[in-house]
Amino acid sequence: MNQDDLKRQVGAAALEYVQPDSIIGVGTGSTVNCFIEALAASAIRVEAAVSSSEATSWLLENAGIQVVDLNQTGGLDIYIDGADEFDPHRRLIKGGGGALTREKIVAAASRKFVCITDASKQVSVLGAFPLPVEVIPLARSLVARKMVALGGQPEWREGFTTDNGNWILDVHNMDLVDPVSMEKTINNLAGVVTCGLFALRPADLVLIATEAGVRQL
Ligand code: A5P
Repeated sequence: MNQDDLKRQVGAAALEYVQPDSIIGVGTGSTVNCFIEALAASAIRVEAAVSSSEATSWLLENAGIQVVDLNQTGGLDIYIDGADEFDPHRRLIKGGGGALTREKIVAAASRKFVCITDASKQVSVLGAFPLPVEVIPLARSLVARKMVALGGQPEWREGFTTDNGNWILDVHNMDLVDPVSMEKTINNLAGVVTCGLFALRPADLVLIATEAGVRQL
C-alpha cells in the first residue's frame, strides 16, 4: 500500500463518525481531501460544513457540500482533520499546509476532534516536524528572534501567505517535551497569531492508517 492508499483508507474510515444531516467541521490537507472524496461518494448527506481553509471550501463546494460560517453554526459535534505529527497523548503538530489558525478555531468549536493520519506520522515526542507559527507580517523578524531565544531555528516560508493574510515561520529543532507549556509560551508572543501545536486542545481520537488496517488511538 502506498501513502495515497493509506490516506484513502483512513479518509473513508472517518465516515463512521459523520452523522447524517449534521454540520461538520472539515480540516485541510491531502488526507482530508480523501475524506471529502469519500464523503461525496457515500450515501451520507450532511447539512453543511464549516471549513478550515479556502482550499477545503473549494473542494467541499465542488462536491456539492454547502459551506457555512462558524459564526452561524455555534458549536459543532465533530471536526475531522489530518496532522503532520502526533504523539501517544494525541497531541499534534499541524500547519504544514499553512491552515493552522482556522484549524485551531474549528477544533476549539468542536466537541469531538477525529484526527486522520498514517503510522509514519507517529512520534514519541513532538518536534521532528518543523513547528509552523503564523505571524503578523510586521512581527516576522521579532518573532523569529524570540523563537531563537526559545531554542529553535526559524525559517520564513517565503512566498507563502495564509488565508488570513499572514506569514509562516517553520521552526526547526524545538524542544517540545512539554508541548502544553510551549504552546502557551509561543501563543503569548506579540505578533504570533497561533502556533501549530495542538496540545491544549489535542485530538480526541486519532485514526491511524496502517498496512493491516485502521488503528485507533
Ligand atoms: C494543514 O495546515 C495541516 O495542518 C494539515 O492538516 C497537515 O499538514 C496534514 O496534511 P496532510 O494530510 O496533507 O499530510
